[in-house]
Amino acid sequence: MIILRTIAQTTQQVGFLRKEGKTIGFVPTMGALHQGHIALIESARRQSDVVVCSIFVNPIQFNDPVDLQRYPRTEEADLNMLGEAGCHIVFIPAVEEIYPEPVTDTYDFGYLDKVMEGAFRPGHFNGVSVVVKRLFDIIRPDLAFFGEKDFQQLTVIRAMVIKSDLPVQIVACPTIREANGLAMSSRNLRLTQENRAIAGNIYRILTEASRMAPQATPEKITEWVYHQIQAYPEMQIEYFSLCDSETLLPVDAWQPGKPARGCIAVYIGGVRLIDNVEFGG
Ligand code: PAF
Repeated sequence: MIILRTIAQTTQQVGFLRKEGKTIGFVPTMGALHQGHIALIESARRQSDVVVCSIFVNPIQFNDPVDLQRYPRTEEADLNMLGEAGCHIVFIPAVEEIYPEPVTDTYDFGYLDKVMEGAFRPGHFNGVSVVVKRLFDIIRPDLAFFGEKDFQQLTVIRAMVIKSDLPVQIVACPTIREANGLAMSSRNLRLTQENRAIAGNIYRILTEASRMAPQATPEKITEWVYHQIQAYPEMQIEYFSLCDSETLLPVDAWQPGKPARGCIAVYIGGVRLIDNVEFGG
């Protein structure tokens, strides 16, 4: 596995491979890798000739400086995992490499980046869009792989790709879960054993809620989810939203053939977790 830290080396290396006719699959990450990331690398390996992964804790997507400071950094373990997973190139730039000047780029995705994560984490999706666009410009991948755990991020990145007219195909990969259903996330490292066990209930509640549709109305299901999460004193629900899978507009009535997503954010022991499941239309 080749480890590169500068844009110049990376564009050159990927340029050689592209000239040889190889297709490039890209997995952007912020490190602290887990099986969810490895599943993205495996999908990239199956669908492209060369797999490039980036590790970059992107400061401009954190609206809370404490969250940025606490974000786990585990470079050595990450490199071992990537090597074992068969990643070919890893790009690990310093902050100054990606942001040599103060960032002024602004994106507006209308409704998509204003609700849910966008509402509770102001500036988050602008930061994500800026860094993903810059990484795409450096690596120029044919395919880029993102987990469905960050469902709204996936929707916003698809919109950014269309808006910027980029020749990259975005591939959505299913959420990978721990044995108790908890969606894998780098943030899980900050959970106590006890809270990790309790957090498994988030997925259980979402799954049970999805089975209540279409008999129960979206409003009834939303109330039920709040009530179920609030039954655990350790968990504080920030939002639960039933939204259209494409537009993210709230769903107030089920429509056959129109899939919806139930998206949730919950705090447990000061750690913010997100998850989502599909509600068939
Ligand atoms: O999902 C993530 O880890 C990040 O938001 C991403 C896409 C790597 C951008 O920093």
